[in-house]
Amino acid sequence: MFYKDNKNVEIMEHPLIKHKISRLRDSETGTYEFRSLIEEIAMLEAYEALRDLPLVDIEVETPIEKCMTPTIDGKKLAIVPILRAGLGMVNGIHALVPSAKVGHIGLYRDPETHLPHEYYCKLPDPIDQRLIVLLDPMLATGGSAVEAVNFIKQHGGKHIKFMCIIAAPEGLENLMNAHPDIEIYVGNLDRGLNDNAYIMPGLGDAGDRIFGTK
Ligand code: PRP
Ligand code: URA
Repeated sequence: MFYKDNKNVEIMEHPLIKHKISRLRDSETGTYEFRSLIEEIAMLEAYEALRDLPLVDIEVETPIEKCMTPTIDGKKLAIVPILRAGLGMVNGIHALVPSAKVGHIGLYRDPETHLPHEYYCKLPDPIDQRLIVLLDPMLATGGSAVEAVNFIKQHGGKHIKFMCIIAAPEGLENLMNAHPDIEIYVGNLDRGLNDNAYIMPGLGDAGDRIFGTK
């Protein structure tokens, strides 16, 4: 389903994604299951988000004869998780495209101002010639995602898709307005933000639940 008829913003409708997100929300779901669910949802979302990956024909010899057959050039894909929580989604996409390169953007949200601060950025070269899939399970105010896309563009990145698992309407609008050229894939659009800029009903702090910290 497109958000407000915007073809660049897709909200997932698959029942498997809905079911797994419900398991993620449950505060009784432990770290191991939480991590597995994040990976599985990332894989299911990527199936949707990567449906326009370019193909190149290669020659293969089947047991019957030689033929030309389409393949994906995974080296042209860069997966870029926003640290920390985005790391949880990487394996799900690598399972589909093992040869994809991985970059990292380190951002944390100041607990008082809720504004993002960068502490790390390393992207595969040459970034301008790759499809970049930026990952973060949570799109809350949108500050972190907007800033991450700014960094990627400053480094020359052009073709960007952003994948998250849960979004608040505020964050989604913010990202769409700041970067109308990128494609955005959302597992579920939640109700809104609380006074601490946490998503309601959300799933709590994604990074802490993936890595068992707090
Ligand atoms: C969380 C989450 C996003 C960000 C979303 O990260 O993983 O990166 O907050 O919030 P925003 O849309 O309001 O910017 P956090 O800063 O808690 O860091 P962590 O992943 O290291 O826990
Ligand atoms: N970051 C999270 O991990 N969860 C939220 O609800 C908001 C920001």
